[in-house]
Amino acid sequence: MVYEFDAVIVGAGGAGLYAALEAGTTAKTAVISKLYPMRSHTGAAQGGIGAALGNVEEDKPEWHAFDTVKGGDYLVDQEAARILAEEAVQTVYDLENRGLPFSRTPEGRIAQRRFGGHTRNFGEGPVHRSCYAADRTGNMILQTLYQQCIKNDVHFFDEFQVVELLLDGTRCTGVVVFELKTGEVHIFRAKAVLFATGGFGRMFRITSNALANTGDGPAVLARAGIPMEDMEFFQFHPTGIKGMGILITEGVRGEGGILLNSKGERFMERYAPTMLDLAPRDMVSRAIMTEILEGRGVRGDREIDDWVMLDASHLGRDVVESKIPDIADFCRTYLAIDPAEEPMPVQPTAHYAMGGIPTDVHGRVDTGGTVYEGLYAAGECACVSVHGANRLGTNSLVDLVVFGRRAGKHIAEYVQNVTHGPVDEGAAQAYSARVAKLKTEKGKHPGPIYREMQSVMTAKVGVYRNQSNMQEAIDTIRKLREQFQDVRVQDTADNFNTEVLAILELENLLDLSLITAVSAENRKESRGAHSRPDYPDRDDEGWLKHTLARLDGDKVSLDYKSVDVGIWEPKPRVY
Ligand code: FUM
Repeated sequence: MVYEFDAVIVGAGGAGLYAALEAGTTAKTAVISKLYPMRSHTGAAQGGIGAALGNVEEDKPEWHAFDTVKGGDYLVDQEAARILAEEAVQTVYDLENRGLPFSRTPEGRIAQRRFGGHTRNFGEGPVHRSCYAADRTGNMILQTLYQQCIKNDVHFFDEFQVVELLLDGTRCTGVVVFELKTGEVHIFRAKAVLFATGGFGRMFRITSNALANTGDGPAVLARAGIPMEDMEFFQFHPTGIKGMGILITEGVRGEGGILLNSKGERFMERYAPTMLDLAPRDMVSRAIMTEILEGRGVRGDREIDDWVMLDASHLGRDVVESKIPDIADFCRTYLAIDPAEEPMPVQPTAHYAMGGIPTDVHGRVDTGGTVYEGLYAAGECACVSVHGANRLGTNSLVDLVVFGRRAGKHIAEYVQNVTHGPVDEGAAQAYSARVAKLKTEKGKHPGPIYREMQSVMTAKVGVYRNQSNMQEAIDTIRKLREQFQDVRVQDTADNFNTEVLAILELENLLDLSLITAVSAENRKESRGAHSRPDYPDRDDEGWLKHTLARLDGDKVSLDYKSVDVGIWEPKPRVY
C-alpha cells in the first residue's frame, strides 16, 4: 500500500509528538511508531526537565546555556545551547498550558529541584532548575502531548517499523515501513519526514534503555549513506540498579541522596569538592568505576557487577514517598529494598547517545556540507549538537521538546511551498522479498549474536576504553555482522511476527555498534563520556571537532565538522 501525507513523523516519544503537533497546524501529518505511543521511552525519564524559571531561587537561561556547554566538555555547539536554554522556559510553560501536571511549590508555581552540573552564576554551586512531576516527568510529557495530538487530528500508525529511507538525490520523498500486525511492507510518501526514534542503548548489556531502543532511525539513515555525528560519546548514567541497569533518577541526589563506597565513605568529596554528588554524569560514573577498580566497591558475582551504594534513607519516608515514589517501588519490587530504610545498590548504566543524526537548529539533517531537503531529526536520535561530549541530566527532555517543537514548526512552513517528490514503489516489494527470505530459508538464531554484541560493547567500549579493547570490539562486531547474514526466523507467521522485528532491530544495533566503536577508537583524547586511560587528557588542538562517521559496507569512513565555540572559550572543567 502507498500512503500519502504532507508530513511523516517516525517515532512517538516527546520529540516526535511535539513535532507532529506543530507540523499538524498546516500539514496532513502521520506518526509512525513501532510501539503504542504511550510506551515510548520518553515515559521512562524520571527526574525532570531543566528550565531557568527561577521559581525556587534566582536563575537565568544564560547560566543554563553555560552549564550545558561546560558539562559537554566544550564539544557543544554554543548557539544551539543558547537556543536550548532560552526556549526551554517558554516550552515548559507551553507544556503547562497544555495540561502537564507538574509538581508544585507551596505557592503553586512549578516545583524545581537540583540536578548534576546545573549551577548558579557560572559554577558557584548547585541550582534548583529541574521542573518535575514527581519522578514521572517524561511520562507526563507523553500523556500531555499524545492527548494534544489526538485532539488536533494527527494520524497514528502504531506498531509500524521504519526500514528504509526514500531519497531523490539529497531530497527525502518518503519511507518504507514494515507493519507488525500483517507482516506487509508499505510506502509512506511525504513532503517531509522527521525521525524521532530515540536512543540505542540496547547495544550494551547493562542499560537503562527499554528493549525497543535499537536506533532504528540512525541505522536506516546510516545505511542510506548519511554520516552519523559524534557516536563515540555514549553516556553512562551513574546510578542504575545493580546488575539490571534500571534507572535510579539523579533526582535522588538532587533531593539530597549521597553516594557511598564499601567503607561508608562519601567518595565524591575526592572527585568534585564543590558539586559533590551533583557533578556531571561522566565524572560521577568515572568516580564510581574508579572506586570499584581500586577495590572500594561492593563485590558482585562478576567484576562487571560490582557496585556502590546510593543512600536516601536520611531524607525520611515523606520525601521518598512524595518526591521519588516510582524509584521506591522499583527498589521494593526488584531488590526487596526500601530506600527510606536502607541504601540502594547502584552501578553505571548505558543511558544516552550524545551522538546521532547531524542536524541544524531547525531539525534539518545537515552534515556540515549537505542539507537533506525534507529530512529532519529530533530528540535522542539527533545530534544538534547541544550535549557535546556529555549531556547534563534533564537536558534530554529539554532537547526533545525544544528541538521537536522547532522542527515541527519548520515542517509546517516547509510543506506549504513544495510538492511531493517521486518514490520508487518497487522498494516495498524488494523489502518484502527480504523479509520472506528470513522465513523461508534455514539459518542461525539471532540470540547469541545479540548477547555477544552487548557483552563486548559493555566490556570494551564502556566508561573507560583503551586502544586494544576498542580494536577487539571492532573486530568482534565485524565478525558478528558477517554471522548476521545467516540469521533466520523460526516463527514463519505473517501477523505479529516479533522475531522478524527483533532481527531488523539487531541489524540496526550491529551497524550502530560498529560506527560507535570505530568513532571511539579513532578519537585519541579523553573528553566528557569518552574516557581513555591511554590518552587521559583533553586535546583541544587536535580534537575540538565533531566526528562524522559514514558506514560503507563493513568499513566506516571518518570526517570532521567544526564546533561552534562562539560564546565561551573552552576551559578545563572543575566542579
Ligand atoms: O536521572 C534522571 O532522572 C535522568 C534524567 C535524564 O537522563 O535527563
